[in-house]
Amino acid sequence: MISSHTNTFCVIGDPVRHSLSPLMHNAAFKETGTDGVYLAFEVKDISAAIYGIRGLGILGVSVTIPHKVSVIPHLDEIDKTARQIGAVNTIVNDRGKLRGYNTDCFGASKALAEKTEVQGKRVLIVGAGGAARAIGFGIAEKGGIITISNRTEEKGRSLAHDLQASFCGLEDLESKDWDIIINATSVGMAPKIEGCPVPESILQPGRVVMDIVYNPQETLLLKKAAQRGCETVDGVSMFVYQGACQFELWTGRDAPVSAMEKTVRRALSL
Ligand code: ATR
Repeated sequence: MISSHTNTFCVIGDPVRHSLSPLMHNAAFKETGTDGVYLAFEVKDISAAIYGIRGLGILGVSVTIPHKVSVIPHLDEIDKTARQIGAVNTIVNDRGKLRGYNTDCFGASKALAEKTEVQGKRVLIVGAGGAARAIGFGIAEKGGIITISNRTEEKGRSLAHDLQASFCGLEDLESKDWDIIINATSVGMAPKIEGCPVPESILQPGRVVMDIVYNPQETLLLKKAAQRGCETVDGVSMFVYQGACQFELWTGRDAPVSAMEKTVRRALSL
């Protein structure tokens, strides 16, 4: 029950109304008996929003598009991984001190770890935006051998350089061997569900294929990968694990991962 003791958490972004974070985190609070409420705020002015967070004593914040980079100068401390990635998706308000973290990185690694080891594996990451960057740092930390591929070559080469990884043009993907293939672009996301970011021929049996897109839960990439004998990791797992990591940072308690996952999957299948 919400009372005058209830702690407030929120997501800030623009757009934000499609976000499943409120459903997921409120389910986690309910499951663990945490006296908290999680809301969504459409934020245009990041500086004013951070001022409000400090003033109101909001305990934990998820940061989404377009504020993951611009929020950084407004915070008091940035965790090492978030600093390397150059983006923050989580704020912890520790008695007035705002600390920035990046849990996207952890979420991707954890989702992948359910299906495969990463150490020494040849990992193809398609995309060079914020998501690809966060995932890339997570994979690099786990000892994966990374290749970046991207529609815009210059952006792809720049991310590859930052990760000390290789670059491969989208047209050359078939000439190389991969153990793990990750889509970190928006290709395949509803409503354009007919998109597939890589040629079908690279989806060979035994390879692990992961998609960051979670709407639909089974993208065309994952459907083709499963048909061709690949192991698949969907975007919901990554989304839930990044949220579970946020919950643990905010509350210091273990996240109720299966309740969070059930809530998100139910909402997506409506
Ligand atoms: P995010 O922060 O979510 O990663 P982003 O920074 O806009 O979002 O990055 C989106 C990524 O998806 C980019 O790598 C983009 O490729 P470009 O660098 O060429 O723009 C990729 N992307 C988006 N739509 C795409 C499409 N239709 N085909 C191929 N790549 C696409």
